[in-house]
Amino acid sequence: MTLSYDPLDEAFLANPYPTYALLRDQDPVHHHAATDEVPELWALSRFADIWESVRTPGDFSSAQGLTFYPDEIGQLGLPPNLVMLDPPVQTRLRALIGRGFTPKRVEQLEGTIREFVRRQLLSIGERAGEGERVDLHQEFSSTIPTFMLAELFGVAEEDRLRFGPWVHALTAIQNDGFRIGQLDGKGAVAELLTYFTEQIASRRQSPSDDLLGSLVAAELDGERLSDWDILGFCFVVVAGGSDTTASLISHGIALLSERPDQRELLVKDPTLISNALIEFLRLESSVQGLCRTTTRDVTLHDTTIPAGQKVMMLYGSANRDPREFGDSADVLDVRRTIPRHLAFSSGPHFCIGSHLARLQAKIAFEELLALHPHVSVDTAAGERHRSPFVRGWVSLPAGNFSTPDGPAAG
Ligand code: HEM
Repeated sequence: MTLSYDPLDEAFLANPYPTYALLRDQDPVHHHAATDEVPELWALSRFADIWESVRTPGDFSSAQGLTFYPDEIGQLGLPPNLVMLDPPVQTRLRALIGRGFTPKRVEQLEGTIREFVRRQLLSIGERAGEGERVDLHQEFSSTIPTFMLAELFGVAEEDRLRFGPWVHALTAIQNDGFRIGQLDGKGAVAELLTYFTEQIASRRQSPSDDLLGSLVAAELDGERLSDWDILGFCFVVVAGGSDTTASLISHGIALLSERPDQRELLVKDPTLISNALIEFLRLESSVQGLCRTTTRDVTLHDTTIPAGQKVMMLYGSANRDPREFGDSADVLDVRRTIPRHLAFSSGPHFCIGSHLARLQAKIAFEELLALHPHVSVDTAAGERHRSPFVRGWVSLPAGNFSTPDGPAAG
């Protein structure tokens, strides 16, 4: 197979892994000349190179955006946020946000998320029992983060029907590879911006102890977050925290469908689930790649990337690099020891919501496998979204959706 890397090629997006292997072996600092669709860019594919680069923000900046399209955020009218700032400004902002978005706040969500997951499974199970074909991505995986976000932001009951479609519209933009001009999600983004602006204003008037209230009150050495800082954070959480988590759950279900022996291990010993989640993320990383921009000429493996170039950090490739994970890097092993991985990046932009993502997925698999130990999905009938940046499902019909007493209708 000869090496050809086109980040928008349909066959590549359907299965990027053979191309990643060629890039790692033959051209670890790959140059992609500009085409009509894709501007000039570079691609790093080996674990060690990406690990070092994302931990060196002085050379690889986030401030020019995370896709290879120019000014993607500006086009949407979104406020600048954490993920697109460099240290030391980002470090300070992140510390202030950490005053409001605490581990305790995440832990407090466990009970409500579990209750929600049980309710969802009950209702899907009833419908499957009546012979309906259920879609486990749409009706299970993707409902959990939307619910979690509504809880996290304290969205009032009467606003929840509007909130879901806003989340959906924002994630649809990135799921379509950020080809913003072709999408009609801008209206929804503007509505979400207005909604959050009003909510922040109301917390400024009357303090509350929900996340927005805590962000409004957060203080570090006398400094506080501006409305714009909080808005930026809200957007990165909605855009970066919902579909990524839904994809983790759906990828896990799909991977286990192909390997009933591995599913069996988790059913027999649910304490393995936390480790399995990292293995799912490693094999099918929700975030496949994001860009940085070189601030100076950088030389890697005798190749010099000039200053000012977009460099795609292929996390999805790094996480399958045999140099880091051995010869079985492409094989699912829920018991694998994984000392480090790049599914949540590393360094200054390491995912701030990784605990919350893992908590939701852990609850999802604990409840799903307890109720439906033979669960499987029909991946051939499913549909993936098409983006070089994120990998996940749009639809994933259930195959076998069975109870502990025996198979029920799928
Ligand atoms: C499985 C689910 C998730 C995955 C795979 C994921 C992945 C990532 C990755 C790769 C980054 C680094 C971006 C970069 O390289 O520039 C990141 C950053 C971030 N994530 Fe997540 N994420 C997930 C869930 C969440 C959740 C649930 C939240 C919030 C509740 C969240 C909030 C954030 C924020 C705020 C940042 C920016 C941090 C910074 O720039 O300092 N993520 N995430």
